[in-house]
Parts: sequence; structure tokens; C-alpha cells
Amino acid sequence: MEVDSADKSYIRELVKRLNAIVDTPGELSESSMNSVLELSKVLMNAADKSVEAGCDPAMALQHNLVACLKIATDLKIFDTLTAQSGKSWTAAQLGKPLNADSQLIVRIMRVMTAAGFAKETGISTYASTPKSEIMTRPQSTRGLSHAFSTNIQISQKSPEFFRRIGYRSTTMSEQTPFQYAYDTEDTYYERMEKKPEIAQNFSGGVRATRGTWLEWFPVQKELLEGARDDPNAVLMVDLGGGRGRDLAAFKAQFPDAPGRFVLEDQQHTLDSTDVQGIEKLSHDFFTAQPVKGARFYHTHYILHNWDDEKSILILKQIASAMTKGYSKVILNEWILPDMGCSLYEGLIDIQMLMAFTGMERTRGQWQSIIEAAGLKLTKFWMPPGYGEGIIEASL
Ligand SMILES: C[S@@+](CC[C@H](N)C(=O)[O-])C[C@H]1O[C@@H](n2cnc3c(N)ncnc32)[C@H](O)[C@@H]1O
Repeated sequence: MEVDSADKSYIRELVKRLNAIVDTPGELSESSMNSVLELSKVLMNAADKSVEAGCDPAMALQHNLVACLKIATDLKIFDTLTAQSGKSWTAAQLGKPLNADSQLIVRIMRVMTAAGFAKETGISTYASTPKSEIMTRPQSTRGLSHAFSTNIQISQKSPEFFRRIGYRSTTMSEQTPFQYAYDTEDTYYERMEKKPEIAQNFSGGVRATRGTWLEWFPVQKELLEGARDDPNAVLMVDLGGGRGRDLAAFKAQFPDAPGRFVLEDQQHTLDSTDVQGIEKLSHDFFTAQPVKGARFYHTHYILHNWDDEKSILILKQIASAMTKGYSKVILNEWILPDMGCSLYEGLIDIQMLMAFTGMERTRGQWQSIIEAAGLKLTKFWMPPGYGEGIIEASL
């Protein structure tokens, strides 16, 4: 197998990035392990020159892997497998809770074991793997439920949608693939407002299990030093903060941080959460920001839901509430490389395109919307290895 020099230098670059993560002193954190995994996948694809890699016959059947995962989680197979460490279970035992046919279980488990979600310990007998445990987590089960209640239908219609619109990028001013698939004028979020069961799976499932920015961002130096030591001053506003996970994590990690914490979102989302020590404020982020002069305005996974025009409007509303020389904007989002995106980064960008006409952005794309909103880009902060970054801006 020949590897040409361009491929070789790309492979060398990927190995260098992997080494940089593994060589950092101390234990490997969960987010570093995620980075190692993602980079390894890119490396594997870069190094695999076999013709079969490009036309794997299983490729066009990948949707059935997701379907088998959903059926297995519905049957609580992963809960059973992980109930007792090291124990083996027969197909009949795995099917028992929901009276499922053993032959059906064997057929589902062929796929699950081949994909590493369980292992065979004998004929029609299975035990757990680390991936089995991951499939018992609410993020996984809710994420799969959300895929089946909402996202798969959009993917199915998307080739037809893009053919009809002549393969252009879309914006919110026209129909989205989501609206086309559901024949609705509601946006993705408006549909969820009407269907609370879908909203629950979305909030509980879409958040990936990656580590948080608080693990690596210099919070003390950049946000707490210089913050007003006044119990009435607002330290952090989280716009579209969902159930307040980021605020809760911040408060837990910095219990002595001064000032108030404000969670802003739509009323129906706020109704489903209560976090101690955090004020809830129903607010539409396309309208004037009511909390003036906070130390920082944080958003996580918000601007990637919206096209440039809407994202600029959100940023302008934040800018109008900021105090010059004091307030900061902290955007917690993917910062895509110009080349060499991981499969996850590519897929999450496509998800944004299909569901919202949103997008994951490169540095240049971030810079351009920040400047269009009248803000100054202060710095791109990247996590060690791989993961979501922080885009910092000020007035
Ligand atoms: C992808 S979720 C991100 C939630 C949270 N920041 C997180 O990372 O877990 C997007 C959030 O934006 C909220 N949202 C959507 N449209 C909004 C609007 N116009 N004004 C305020 N919040 C909105 C949704 O309710 C949802 O909680």
C-alpha cells in the first residue's frame, strides 16, 4: 500500500495532535479521551487506503444499526447486561422482561456485538462492554428517542428537499428541511413547544457527554478577577440556558463567585427546571436583553441553531445590554477547523443545517458575525485536544 507525501504529512500531523493529548501530565480526563477517540477515527480513515473503505457494503445499511440500538434500549437489554458486572445472559433472559422472542434478540444482538455495544460469551449468550453502560445513560436513550421522534424523518426527506431547491444553502427566510419533512410552518423549537414529550427528550438527550469548558477555561483570571464584588450585580447570564446545566456547573465549581446568576429561556423550558441559587427569566433572545451590565453573557449551543442573520440579531441584543470595558460575551460552541473536521463535527453541522438552517462555524465565520453585530472578537479559546471551544467577544 503506497501513501503519497500529502497523505503522509496529514497522518504525521494527526499523530502529533494525538501525542500532544496523551503526553499531557496527569490522568486523561473524559474530554481528553473523547479527543483521542475522535482523532483516532480521523487517523484511521486517513490511513485506510483500501478500496473497500470507500464502498463498505454495510454503509447503506447504517440506519439499521441505529434502529437496532433503539429496539435494544426499548427492550432494556443494556440495563440487563450491566446489572451485574461480568455476568453472561442468554438471549431468552434478555428477552424476558418484555416477553420478546429469543430469535429476534439473537438477530438484534448480532448487530450490537459486531458494533461493540455488547460481546458474545457463547452461542446466543452475551455480556456487557463499556459501550453497553453508555447505552443505559439517559442522554443515550433520550437521544435515540429524539432521533426517532424527530430527526430521522428530516434526514429521510433531505435529499428530496435539496434537489427541489437546486442544492442551495438555505436560510430561515425560506423553508427548512425540517419544515419540508413535517409539512409545517412551525420551527423546530415551536414544534417542541407544542409537544412537551419531544422537548423532554431533546433537552435530556441532545447534549453530548463531552467535558465542560469549565475544565480548561481560565475562569478565575478572565471572568472572576475584575467582577463586581456586589451581591446585586449579575455575574453570569445564560441565554437559551435550557435546564440551567451550565449555570449549575459554574456555581458548583466556583461556589464563592460573587453576584447573581440568571437563566434565560422560553417559559415552557424554564417550567421544567429549578436550580438552586439561580434566577429564571423568560426571555426571547431576539428581543432587547433585559439584564444590563452583567459580567458575562454566556450561550451554549445557541448560535449554531441559527443562520447568520438571526445570529447577528441575537448578538446585537446582547451587545446593547453590555457595559463597555466590563461585560464579556462567552460563546460556547464548536470552532471548526478549515480542514480536517472530525466526523462528529461534520455530522453536527449537517444536523444544524437540516433542523434549523443553522451551522457550525469556522474562525472566519465566527469573526464575521461578531463584527457584523458591532462586537470585537477578543479570542478563540480551544480546549486541549478536541472539543467545543469558547469564542470571547467584547464591545
Ligand atoms: C440546543 S438548546 C441549548 C440549551 C443549553 N444552552 C445547553 O447547552 O444545554 C437551545 C435552547 O434555546 C432555547 N430557545 C430557542 N429559541 C429561543 C428564543 N427565541 N429565546 C430564548 N431561548 C430560546 C430552547 O428552549 C433551548 O433551551
